[in-house]
Amino acid sequence: MIDIIPAKTQNHFQELGRLADIIWREYYIPMVGKPQIDYMLEKFQSVEAIKNQVEAGFEYFLITFDTIPVSYIAIKKEEDTLFLSKIYVLSTYRGKKIGKKAMQFIEEKAKSYDLKAIRLTVNINNTKAINAYEAMGFTKTGTLKAPIGEGFFMDDFLMEKAV
Ligand SMILES: CC(C)(COP(=O)(O)OP(=O)(O)OC[C@H]1O[C@@H](n2cnc3c(N)ncnc32)[C@H](O)[C@@H]1OP(=O)(O)O)[C@@H](O)C(=O)NCCC(=O)NCCS
Repeated sequence: MIDIIPAKTQNHFQELGRLADIIWREYYIPMVGKPQIDYMLEKFQSVEAIKNQVEAGFEYFLITFDTIPVSYIAIKKEEDTLFLSKIYVLSTYRGKKIGKKAMQFIEEKAKSYDLKAIRLTVNINNTKAINAYEAMGFTKTGTLKAPIGEGFFMDDFLMEKAV
């Protein structure tokens, strides 16, 4: 049983930070290295950083599988599109359609905001996620290389799906 819970409380934010720490270290250190992930976790996924993002309009949701927190997403309503900022599932829960259920929820959100598309960015070397996004109806629309401070860069594909 998969549940999607709006993250609103300090406990929720701490749980998000805990999941981010586990997932990002396991998944991204082999891809971009430990110094970048240490930096990005502190800058983007500390409790303080998450709270600031929520104040700036990001909506975070915790996702539980049989009541266990195993995943989270973050979205932001933009002028024409819904930006999918984060979608992460713990390694042992991947491939169980949690991402797909989250994506259906995100599509409903986009429709409820009267937006016609969902957009996201994904590291150009994150082939598994790119394949999963393509399976869920996204197509590549471009690339983006953006500095994130301390000499680190995001090196991403832009992907989009009409809803
Ligand atoms: C990418 C991610 C969010 C997908 O969530 P998930 O719960 O594992 O995916 P699902 O089981 O819901 O699968 C959704 C669809 O993608 C496909 N898919 C999932 N993983 C895939 C993979 N590694 N390769 C190819 N297709 C894949 C599934 O077959 C399914 O398609 P289908 O409905 O046609 O069968 C999850 O695997 C994850 O957290 N990965 C690590 C972190 C990450 O890269 N996040 C994205 C950052 S941009």
